[in-house]
Amino acid sequence: MLGNFSYCNPTKLYFGEDALDNLSVELAKYGDRVVLVYGSGSIKKNGIYDSVMGILSSLGKDVAEIPDVMPNPTIHKLREGIQTAREHRADFILAVGGGSVVDYAKALSVSIHCEEDPWEKYYARFEEPSCEIVPVGVVLTMTGTGSEMNAGAVITYPEQKLKIGHVFADEAVMPKFSILNPRYTMSLPTYQMAAGIYDIFNHICEQYFSGEDDNTSDYISEGLMRSVIYSSRIAVRNPEDYEARSNIMWTATWALNTLTAKGKSTDWMVHMLGQSVGACGNATHGMTLSAVSLPYYKFIMPYGIKKFARFAANVWGVDAEGKTEEQAAEEGLAAMEGWMKELGLAMNLSEVGVTPDMMEDIVNGTLIMEGGYKVLSKEDVRTVLNRAMAEDM
Ligand code: NZQ
Ligand code: ZN
Repeated sequence: MLGNFSYCNPTKLYFGEDALDNLSVELAKYGDRVVLVYGSGSIKKNGIYDSVMGILSSLGKDVAEIPDVMPNPTIHKLREGIQTAREHRADFILAVGGGSVVDYAKALSVSIHCEEDPWEKYYARFEEPSCEIVPVGVVLTMTGTGSEMNAGAVITYPEQKLKIGHVFADEAVMPKFSILNPRYTMSLPTYQMAAGIYDIFNHICEQYFSGEDDNTSDYISEGLMRSVIYSSRIAVRNPEDYEARSNIMWTATWALNTLTAKGKSTDWMVHMLGQSVGACGNATHGMTLSAVSLPYYKFIMPYGIKKFARFAANVWGVDAEGKTEEQAAEEGLAAMEGWMKELGLAMNLSEVGVTPDMMEDIVNGTLIMEGGYKVLSKEDVRTVLNRAMAEDM
């Protein structure tokens, strides 16, 4: 394990079919003026809204609602929510939804008492909060982002064609608790389930494909990847399989709660490419990642060949006997491609609505990260994106 690091994750998790039973105990710890944040209606259809409202009213909480938080939440929606939360004098935020709702709640938590515009402070200048942070609790309904146990909050500025994630250093931004009931994810459309599964897998890849030392984080990552591959194959055939769905939910949380990043520089270029695609067209997050992944990994493979050969053997079971590292590594990516197609993921950019005229904005909006096996130039970014436009990878 190279480097120095600290590890602290203050989010308390409640997992399983009865997890919501713990909401009362947790809510009782906080003030009565609650802001309830949710999306565009799925929680009203599947009954989660009624269950949560029942608990809030039994505790006598004074609730203001911020509904209609959209996938890839915008800065405009955030500014609107800040007004609602200020008028309500919120002392707690309860997020009920997927990553978009949870990210939004965290962005709101650092903005209610902030005197500056949150975009400028947190997303343009990447500053840490200097104001009171309103505590957040989570009831998760979609699995993938890991937002339930991390300090990330991704916000989109559509007019600027920018989608920026700020991972706050302040642990106070992490949810105080998260309620994870795998049954709640069963009403997800298959497309969203598959997108979430690929998001999980790619979070692990982003942390795995960096560094050359022997590192415990990589062994944990390999185990998590094998678990998600195994369970996803069951879940796509039978989305009602509780065992598979529960493993997927638990893996998602551990894939991005900073554990597997310990002692690593981490890559995150697939996310930078995917987020720029998302900013230009509002496509589903996990699908933007799948659309760019293979061209990106094929592009960087020569620079991290040993790790790609290890990935092939330890994650995909490729037998390295009699093969060069390059042959084994290529076989690993071919196995990954086969699995991605089984899940029905977007395999190129046109499948997520990208047209050639959008390309320049996507290239310009792609932030370059420096922790992976190759630091891309803008020209490299263009090459990868052009390859991702091609019909057949
Ligand atoms: O709006 P509702 O009606 O809730 O519908 C949502 C939405 O349309 C629906 N959904 C959620 N739970 C459901 C359900 N439909 C039926 N039954 C349920 N139980 O699913 C759709 C997508 O939801 P969303 O929250 O947008 O998905 P996801 O969890 O993938 O979150 C995506 C956002 O998280 C960010 C992404 O960039 C994107 O903005 N990310 C956050 C990260 C973090 N905080 O660390 C890291 C990730 O890499 C990611 O960037
Ligand atoms: Zn992601």
